[in-house]
Amino acid sequence: MAYNLLQGKNGIIFGALDEKSIAWRTALKCHEEGARLVLTNAPVALRMGEINKLAEAVNAPVIGADVTNMDDLKKLFEDAMKHFGGKIDFILHSIGMSLNVRKGKSYTELDYGFNQKTLDISAMSLHRVLRTAWDLDALNEWGSVVALTYIAAQRVFPHYSEMADAKALLESVTRSFGYHYAVKKKVRVNTVSQSPTRTTAGSGVKGFDGFITYAEKMSPLGNATSDDCAAYCVTLFSDLTRMVTMQNLFHDGGFSLMGVTEEVLNALEK
Ligand SMILES: NC(=O)c1ccc[n+]([C@@H]2O[C@H](COP(=O)([O-])OP(=O)(O)OC[C@H]3O[C@@H](n4cnc5c(N)ncnc54)[C@H](O)[C@@H]3O)[C@@H](O)[C@H]2O)c1
Repeated sequence: MAYNLLQGKNGIIFGALDEKSIAWRTALKCHEEGARLVLTNAPVALRMGEINKLAEAVNAPVIGADVTNMDDLKKLFEDAMKHFGGKIDFILHSIGMSLNVRKGKSYTELDYGFNQKTLDISAMSLHRVLRTAWDLDALNEWGSVVALTYIAAQRVFPHYSEMADAKALLESVTRSFGYHYAVKKKVRVNTVSQSPTRTTAGSGVKGFDGFITYAEKMSPLGNATSDDCAAYCVTLFSDLTRMVTMQNLFHDGGFSLMGVTEEVLNALEK
């Protein structure tokens, strides 16, 4: 059911790779709620061509941008404003990539060159996006920016490796830039800390099957799906959450507050 929560709003969605992507599900939901959209992803991801299906479904242009490249970001925001004929109301940052995980290097043997790229793509990219919007004055008052994160920023999940550090940095940028943007323009910036979800980025984590099953058994409501996440993001882009900013918001079926569940205990009892 749609509520027209985003009627009259313009949004940029980063990170829709394929139909499993959280960004893909969120774009569909934002469209359903009346938003006008621009889709973006790294040029290499666009070459896969999948995103064109989404573009058609949500009637949005696709503008390529490598999120570590300031010229790409400037052009993206300028072109998006041209397309909308006005400023932007919301942004979804749904971007993550670990080069060390991808190359099979564990946390205790990180390659620091890869590590810098991981932090740039997965965390400082949020600063780059906010900075570009700030410099171009591209966001409307009461705009809303959401970035996706994971609880490995607060707790140890060994195979999440350097992405844990990237998420901690992402959440810190959210608070720090969130302060400045709130004061300057009443723009709010939050992270949503999502349950493990079967996507390309998610499945790249070693032992993902065990990881997602464990989370399911530890969450009183079960794992939140990507469609649940999309719906939550819509509320954060809407005018119903105008006083929420600089927060890390757990969207995880209750996982983050559990010590242990009976289901896990029963499985461990001899
Ligand atoms: N899947 C999970 O279990 C899970 C859980 C919590 C949080 N998250 C977070 O959700 C976000 C979205 O991931 P997803 O699970 O939908 O996976 P996904 O693989 O579908 O999305 C990741 C996206 O990042 C994009 N990207 C990578 N490098 C880029 C660059 N240089 N410039 C622009 N875009 C780039 C990819 O092209 C891709 O579209 C990530 O931040 C991820 O860490 C995922």
